[in-house]
Amino acid sequence: MTGPIVHLAGVSKRYGDVPALRSADLLIERGEMLAIVGPSGSGKSTMLNIMGTLDRPTSGTLRIDGYDVGALGDRELSALRARTIGFVFQQFHLARGVPAIDIVADGLLYSGKPRAHRRQAAERALRRVGLGHRMLHLQHQLSGGEQQRVAIARAVLGDPPLLMADEPTGNLDSGSGTIVMELLRELHEGGTTVVVITHDRDIAASLPREVRLKDGRVEHDTAAPRVGEVGRIESTARSVPPATKEAS
Ligand SMILES: Nc1ncnc2c1ncn2[C@@H]1O[C@H](COP(=O)(O)OP(=O)(O)OP(=O)(O)O)[C@@H](O)[C@H]1O
Ligand SMILES: [Mg+2]
Repeated sequence: MTGPIVHLAGVSKRYGDVPALRSADLLIERGEMLAIVGPSGSGKSTMLNIMGTLDRPTSGTLRIDGYDVGALGDRELSALRARTIGFVFQQFHLARGVPAIDIVADGLLYSGKPRAHRRQAAERALRRVGLGHRMLHLQHQLSGGEQQRVAIARAVLGDPPLLMADEPTGNLDSGSGTIVMELLRELHEGGTTVVVITHDRDIAASLPREVRLKDGRVEHDTAAPRVGEVGRIESTARSVPPATKEAS
């Protein structure tokens, strides 16, 4: 597959009378790693939620993996999301009283795969984040950094090409934060496109690209402007909806 993995063109989002995002343009190529930064309330989470197809824009066009998201129904959209995007949030959202391996395995609940297969995949994912020795620990028995790594294991379980993280180190001490960032970098080196919202200037500066939001607008983007991008986007647009693979 070629063409950008994410393309926002003139995307706006209003919540009532709050313009959370104003005519934002953003093009993310496959395999990029970038930081989204900006003051509190500048629209970072809004942008991430829209890119992650968790929320629909009020106006403008969003393409994910070549698909025009606005043209997809809810079912097609959740199939595209399940296949393409992994999420890591600041709050880990881990189920209580459930061993790490099943927290991760439940990420494949709607894949139609049998439980044994889901658990094997979860085991591999937990090893990948360095938690092979914590498979049976419950949420409250894991440190904050470990919980965030479980969340990452769950996000990368189906090998999504696109990983989005909203303040993944926001609740962690600097040591755990470093481990989590190293993990995200490794995934990027393995070919995953990684988008990270961060308040941490050092983290942002250490990434290959920085997109700065202010008052819902893209104020600065360290990526060079791309010539002829509109024509290229049109030529890479897909018209056939993705196959639904969810069991439910
Ligand atoms: N569901 C909502 N309903 C109403 N207003 C909202 C909603 N979600 C976000 N907003 C508003 O939209 C603006 C952008 O919010 P957003 O959460 O995207 O900011 P942010 O850049 O992620 O901030 P932070 O760094 O504090 O997480 C804010 O002014 C916020 O109050
Ligand atoms: Mg936010």
